[in-house]
Amino acid sequence: MSSLAGGFRAIVVDQLADAAGASAPPATPAQRGSLRTIDASFFAPAPEAPATATPATGVTIEVEYSGINYKDGLAVTGRPGVVRRLPLIAGIDVVGTVRASADARWSAGDTVLLNGAGIGESAHGGLAEFAVVAPGSLVRLPDAISSRRAAALGTAGFTAMLSVMALEKQGIGPRSGEILVTGAAGGVGSVAIMLLARAGYSVTAASGRAESEGDYLRELGANTVIDRAELAEPGRPLQSTRWAGAVDSVGGPLLATVLAQISYGGSVTACGLAAGAQLPTTVLPFILRGVNLLGVNSVDAPLSLREAAWMRLAAETRFELLDALSTEIGLAAVPDAADAILAGTVRGRTIVNVHA
Ligand SMILES: NC(=O)c1ccc[n+]([C@@H]2O[C@H](COP(=O)([O-])OP(=O)(O)OC[C@H]3O[C@@H](n4cnc5c(N)ncnc54)[C@H](OP(=O)(O)O)[C@@H]3O)[C@@H](O)[C@H]2O)c1
Repeated sequence: MSSLAGGFRAIVVDQLADAAGASAPPATPAQRGSLRTIDASFFAPAPEAPATATPATGVTIEVEYSGINYKDGLAVTGRPGVVRRLPLIAGIDVVGTVRASADARWSAGDTVLLNGAGIGESAHGGLAEFAVVAPGSLVRLPDAISSRRAAALGTAGFTAMLSVMALEKQGIGPRSGEILVTGAAGGVGSVAIMLLARAGYSVTAASGRAESEGDYLRELGANTVIDRAELAEPGRPLQSTRWAGAVDSVGGPLLATVLAQISYGGSVTACGLAAGAQLPTTVLPFILRGVNLLGVNSVDAPLSLREAAWMRLAAETRFELLDALSTEIGLAAVPDAADAILAGTVRGRTIVNVHA
C-alpha cells in the first residue's frame, strides 16, 4: 500500500549517467523519465531551488489519473525545453482527491483537477500516486465528469475547448462556414473535432493518417478528411479561400498554408508546434483579408477561464466518443507512451491510471 510518507510510485525525470557514472554522451538526451519509488522528502525544496509547493504549503492530492500529452512526451524522453528543474515528477495533468490542504479553499475529500500551471515543467507533476500542488489554478471536478474522463480530456481537451471559445469570441459560429482542424488524430485535434461537430459546425480534419484514421475522424464528427500533405507544401501567401476558421496544433509551413486559405475576417487558433516552431508566412492574410491568428495558452490560463472551459467540457463532451478515443495505461508504460506520442503514432488520448 503506497503512502506519501512510506513511499509511492512516480515517473521521475532525472539526469542520465552511463555505466561508468559519467554524464550521458552529448548525442543522446541527457535526461529521461523512469518509474521510481520515492517519498514525501522528494517534495522538500532544495536550498537553491525556486519556491515550490510542499506538503506544508500546498494541496496534497492522492492522484487517480494523469495523462500523456505531447509535452509529457517531450519531458519524459528528455527533450530540451520542458523540464526546468531536476529531478522532477513529470505530468502536466492531475486528477484526484485532496488529502490535505494548507489552503482554506480546499479540504480533504474534494475531487480536483489541474492542467498545466507549471506542473511537470517547473513544479512536480501528476504522473505519480501523490502530488503536491499550488492551490491557485486547481479546479473542482464538475459533477458530470468522472475522474477518468477528466483525465481523458486532460490538457488536450482543455486546450481544444479554449480554442473553440477563442473562435467564438471572434464571432465564428456554426453558420460561418467550414472549420479546419489540423493534427486531427492527435489529442487536441480529436477533442476539437468532437466539440465542434457537436456544436453544429461543419468540420474538415487534416491528418497525416487520413487513410488509416479516416473512419475514426468521421466517427468523431468530421464531414471531410484530407491528407495533411495537401497543406504541407509552401505555397502562395494568399490562396483560394477554403475555411472560415481553423484549430491548429501543428504550426510550421502547414499553419502558413492554412492562413493563406482563410476567408475574409476568419480566425485561426494556434496552440502547438508538432510540425515545428517556425511560421513561414507574410502579413498578406492579415492585411488583405483581415485574418486573425489567435494564440492559445492553457498553461497560464486564469482560474476563471479554467472553470468556464471545464463547465463547458462537462456539458458539451460526447462522453461515449471520449471513451472510444481514449486508451488507458499504467505508470510503467509511460516511457513507451512518451516515445509513441512524439513519433506521431498515438490516436486520441492516453489516460494514465497511476494505480494500475
Ligand atoms: N498551447 C497550449 O497550451 C497547448 C496545450 C496542449 C497542446 N499543445 C501543443 O499542441 C500540439 C498537439 O498536442 P497533443 O497533445 O494533441 O499532441 P498529439 O496527441 O501528439 O497530437 C499531435 C498531432 O499532430 C500531428 N503531427 C505530428 N507530427 C506532425 C508533423 N511533423 N507535421 C504535421 N502534423 C504532425 C499528428 O496528427 P495527424 O497524424 O492526424 O496528422 C499528431 O497526432 C503539441 O505541439 C503540444 O505541445 C499546446
